[in-house]
Amino acid sequence: MGKVKKIGVLTSGGDSPGMNAAIRGVTRTAIYNGLEVIGIRHGYQGMINANFKQLQAHSVSDIIQRGGTILKTARCEEFRTPEGRAKAYANLKEAQIDGVVVIGGDGSFTGARIFNEEYDIPFVGIPGTIDNDLFGTDATIGYDTAINTVVEAADKIRDTATSHDRLFFIEVMGRDVGFIALRSGIACGAEFILVPETTTYIDNLMRLLKHDWRRNKTSGIVIVAEGDDVGGAYELAAKVKERMPEIDTRVTVLGHIQRGGSPSAFDRVLASTLGHVAVKGLLEGQRGVMAGIIDKQVIYTPFEKAIKHTKDINHQMLEMSRILAL
Ligand code: F6P
Repeated sequence: MGKVKKIGVLTSGGDSPGMNAAIRGVTRTAIYNGLEVIGIRHGYQGMINANFKQLQAHSVSDIIQRGGTILKTARCEEFRTPEGRAKAYANLKEAQIDGVVVIGGDGSFTGARIFNEEYDIPFVGIPGTIDNDLFGTDATIGYDTAINTVVEAADKIRDTATSHDRLFFIEVMGRDVGFIALRSGIACGAEFILVPETTTYIDNLMRLLKHDWRRNKTSGIVIVAEGDDVGGAYELAAKVKERMPEIDTRVTVLGHIQRGGSPSAFDRVLASTLGHVAVKGLLEGQRGVMAGIIDKQVIYTPFEKAIKHTKDINHQMLEMSRILAL
């Protein structure tokens, strides 16, 4: 393979705050290094449909502070098929794109990994997902902003919970992992945090709740990750109400509000840095890897390893959260 001269950049899967800052980091670093940059719109679907647009340095002005993604995003079924990937390759070749930066989560990197095994165009990934469920980076882009969004909402809910003596169940995102639930739960002083990584025993929870109420607690917040085995906040609230009808309960599902909004300073810096080092990685001959930061060091992790879901939540912090909520 010769030196990379023209790169494509795309965002794929669920959007996350900071994706625009990453697009900016990629575009400006590439142009600084004499590369051409093509924005691929609508994720892998744009690769299959040749939905390409040349990006200049000014194309990414005034976006570092914006949520969402100027390139749009999608979850693309067609890219899962060999025919879809063949079309994508043909379009990249036709456009003379000889390197691609994919900003996305585990689904996006699964596609990138297969493509890199089949074809000679190198892909480098940037972890963009609020879920923080990728191995090979301390944080994914958007995770910090999502936590702050949850905490802001939970603080407001706390006011009304206290005023009315109510127990609130707040459902947060995290289909398979509890990173958002754990960190936001600690930050808002939640009484309980339920995550998919641990089994929720309703009897244990009831025992602790009854204990809390006997000790004169009259209101509280339970943060429930959407993927918790109890089945989400509504199911949990119904089970609690059944066993403790005297408690006044309410449910709030925060949903996609967690995916939007202006990225935090942390996410902007992370995204800018990862955009920058993803392009440097391509120039240095990296392929089939995700750029991440661990202990302030830039690390390139093979896609295969990044998506294996081996990054665990900090169980000591989960225990600590319960002690601090006494
Ligand atoms: O992967 C990011 C994520 O926000 C998950 O936390 C959530 O379960 C899922 O995407 C929701 O996806 P969609 O926007 O397709 O409903």
